Amino acid sequence: MAARLIARKVRFSNLDVAYTAGLLHDIGKVILNRSMKDTYHEVVERVSVGDMPFNQVELEILGFDHAIVGSRVASKWHLPEQLVEAIAWHHDPRQAQTNPQLTAIVHIADAVCMAMGIGIGVDGMLYAISDGAMELLGLDEMVIEKSISELTDVFCDQQVFNLG
Ligand SMILES: [Fe+2]
Repeated sequence: MAARLIARKVRFSNLDVAYTAGLLHDIGKVILNRSMKDTYHEVVERVSVGDMPFNQVELEILGFDHAIVGSRVASKWHLPEQLVEAIAWHHDPRQAQTNPQLTAIVHIADAVCMAMGIGIGVDGMLYAISDGAMELLGLDEMVIEKSISELTDVFCDQQVFNLG
């Protein structure tokens, strides 16, 4: 939802693609958690210390991170290249070539969610927003703050209606 909101703000051409990219961007975490349960638990434990970003801990313990795993799987699933790329580079959006805007949107949306404490989130304060992604999308801090405020309203509304 954050990716779609950011996409709308920057007049990205396809909001559904942004939504899908946002939904799938961390698919590598799901795969690693299922396939390497004990080792991945060690990663999560190490992240909870709070002094290192999630993907750096993965690199240190596993030798690879969830972004590369997710992109490999997305590629095997024959997802469109722009989605594979957004999954691969959502923590390093400068590397994107096929659709840098889409990767930048996912990166910013991820950072916004981390700042809001959504997700595992213990490394949220360590999440560095790429200046290049902000520039590429023509975003400034005011827009990010407004997005956080709008998303907070959306999530509060959802919780109100999610009574089951
Ligand atoms: Fe990630």
